[in-house]
Parts: sequence; structure tokens; C-alpha cells
Amino acid sequence: MSKPRVQSCKIENFKAIRDSKTVRLGPLTVLIGNNGSGKSSLIEGLATFQAIVERGLDEAMLTWRGFEHVWHGNLESRRPPRPAGDYSGAMKFSLRLKDSSQIIQARMQITMRDDEIFIQREEMITTQTRSGKIKRRDELIRDVEGRAIHHQFEDAAPIVKDKYVKNARPGRSIIDAEAFRQGWQFIALAPQTMGAPVPQKRTRGAIRLARDGSNIAEFLLDIRKIDRQAFAGILETL
Ligand SMILES: Nc1ncnc2c1ncn2[C@@H]1O[C@H](COP(=O)(O)OP(=O)(O)O)[C@@H](O)[C@H]1O
Ligand SMILES: [Mg+2]
Repeated sequence: MSKPRVQSCKIENFKAIRDSKTVRLGPLTVLIGNNGSGKSSLIEGLATFQAIVERGLDEAMLTWRGFEHVWHGNLESRRPPRPAGDYSGAMKFSLRLKDSSQIIQARMQITMRDDEIFIQREEMITTQTRSGKIKRRDELIRDVEGRAIHHQFEDAAPIVKDKYVKNARPGRSIIDAEAFRQGWQFIALAPQTMGAPVPQKRTRGAIRLARDGSNIAEFLLDIRKIDRQAFAGILETL
């Protein structure tokens, strides 16, 4: 099995995002937008989804000091917080992973009732394909009563129907964290581990480099005279 890749995601009601719609992700995806338009919210939403699957809802929310801070629209200064009893606009995460032999779709819906947050709906659908044809489909679904149910289909015919798995805990995901984790990881670019930037000197030497570069040797020797370290740096780069 090749390493799965995240094909697309969709986030609703997380931080700045009301509805991201389906965001298709390529090998390299660039997010461009004004400050506050939701670029970071999208990434943070994905990281939060992963954290909930791996560590549970409560722990994932610790990072944000509580669900109410990341629930879209709850903290807008222009609007008062949601009145008690208003649980509209559930937070939703959805992700599609694909490798050479299977597609994994994972969806989760989180909401709050009487100050309790819980996973309201959840599903993980794994579709095994062989030469473009669907061979097997596994559906793991958390129903409204909070039970995890497993359906299995082979060549589109159900072979296991409504197989009860277990009672799902309110803050615990039923999504298989291992399968989920294989497909994606976050690389933290922590500035403190990248080293301090080196201040650049811009003293001009006696020799100016000609446009056609014809005096490059003279120019480099001049740099060597001014700053040996800079010269060594240039050599190393070359
Ligand atoms: N719970 C929330 N509901 C609505 N807006 C929020 C919420 N939390 C943060 N925001 C808003 O999200 C914006 C920041 O979004 P962000 O994704 O960081 O933007 P970008 O990375 O594109 O600059 C801020 O304007 C902030 O007020
Ligand atoms: Mg940002």
C-alpha cells in the first residue's frame, strides 16, 4: 500500500471559517488571502481534526482554551455570543485521503448542548478499489444514539449489515487514528529552531560589477579585501 495523500478537505464553523466548501489539495497548495481571511484557520482546523481523532475532544480543545473560542461566530466582537440554547452551526470537519488501492473519507460533526461539547455525528468510509472498480466498502458510522455501527459491502452488496461495534464515548472519535495518521502529518516550522537571521552588510566596494560580468574576478577580489568571511561564503555557495 502506498502512502495515502490528502486529496481534499472541508471545514465549517471553525474560527474564521464559516464554510470552506471543498478545498482540493495538490502536492503543493498555496493559500493566498488578506489578513484574517482564514488561511491559518484552515490549517488549524485540520490540525484540530487530527488532534481530536488522536487524543479526544477535550484535549484537542485545551490548545484553544475551550471550544467556545474556536466555534465560528461565537466570539465576534460585533455580535454577542450565542444565546444559551442556540446550538446552530455545528463545527464540521471532512477529509478525503487516497492511495493506490483505497479512498478514505472521514467526517466529524461537533456540537455543544448545555455547556457540554460532544461528537454528534461521525463516519469513516473506506473504499477499496482494484483496477478502478470498487471491491469493498466499509462504513463505520456513529449514529445519533452514539453507537458505532459497521456496515460492509462487497461488490456493492451488503455482506455485513448493522454490525454493532461499541458505544462511542461522547468526546472520543471512532475514526481509526492509525489509518488516518498515515496519510498526513504536519511539519512545524518553528522559527526559534531555524537559527537567527544573519545581518546583511551592504557596504559598496571600490569595484562595481559590470553588467556583462566581465570584471567578476576583480570584483570578487575586492570583496575579499573588504570582508573575508563574505568572500568565503560566496565561494562555498558556488
Ligand atoms: N471563533 C471565531 N469566530 C469568528 N471569527 C474568528 C473566531 N476566531 C478567530 N476569528 C477571526 O479569524 C481571523 C483570523 O483568521 P486567520 O485564519 O488567522 O486569518 P489569516 O491566516 O488568513 O490571516 C481574525 O479576524 C479573528 O477575529
Ligand atoms: Mg495566518
